[in-house]
Amino acid sequence: MTYDLPMFENPVFCAIDTPDIDRAADVSAAIAPYVGGLKVGMEYFYACGEAGYRAVAAAGKPVFLDLKLHDIPNTVASAIRALAPLQPAIVNVHAGGGRAMMQAAAAAARDSGASMRVIGVSVLTSLDEADLAELGLSGTVRDHVRRLGALARECGLDGMVCSAHEIEILKAECGADFLLVVPGIRPAGAAKGDQKRIMTPAEALALGADILVIGRPITAADDPAAAAAAIAAEIGNLRRG
Ligand code: C5P
Repeated sequence: MTYDLPMFENPVFCAIDTPDIDRAADVSAAIAPYVGGLKVGMEYFYACGEAGYRAVAAAGKPVFLDLKLHDIPNTVASAIRALAPLQPAIVNVHAGGGRAMMQAAAAAARDSGASMRVIGVSVLTSLDEADLAELGLSGTVRDHVRRLGALARECGLDGMVCSAHEIEILKAECGADFLLVVPGIRPAGAAKGDQKRIMTPAEALALGADILVIGRPITAADDPAAAAAAIAAEIGNLRRG
């Protein structure tokens, strides 16, 4: 696997979480020079659909379409084929959908001819060990993440979404070229919001994160472009330093 997307010049993908298409288009255009990509999730996509997606993509950055697909293999493959004309840089599926589903997703992306990475979602960070036990899954969250990462790689996925606390185990299990996309990132001094286990960009990059998903520290700032530029400068200094 080789990764040559411009995302590596700037690993920040900004989460555009709003149901308002005009706001999304404005913020996306304003921050485009200072981010590596944009993330469109369920909230926005279900509210604004394809037109909403295109309003964000018009900013000219790679888009991570974070719809966390989870269904039978045939349906997930069909969904990926349906999304391919939008040309997202990255789409994702729940690794818990199992081997056949992940293989079908990877094959559908490959066959679509679009240069689309398919990555897995491991264990939602809203779940803890007690939740897993209730679902009949014994063992620790870390063990489960490691197992799902190994399976996702075996099935041909290109990477995983993970918390910063799982970067090291997934890199060790899945290799350096397995793309790790990490939310829960807060620049030093930023408000945590509802994120509990946060890390700074510097900490997550040092552990091996490939893409940092950052939303509200940019989108809720008085001047989103300035906020994104400050984060880009912080990361640029790290890389130069
Ligand atoms: O605003 P904030 O930086 O917290 O946004 C983070 C983004 O990453 C949101 O779109 C959120 O849904 C997503 N996300 C997350 N934690 C996860 C997985 C995804 O915050 N474990």
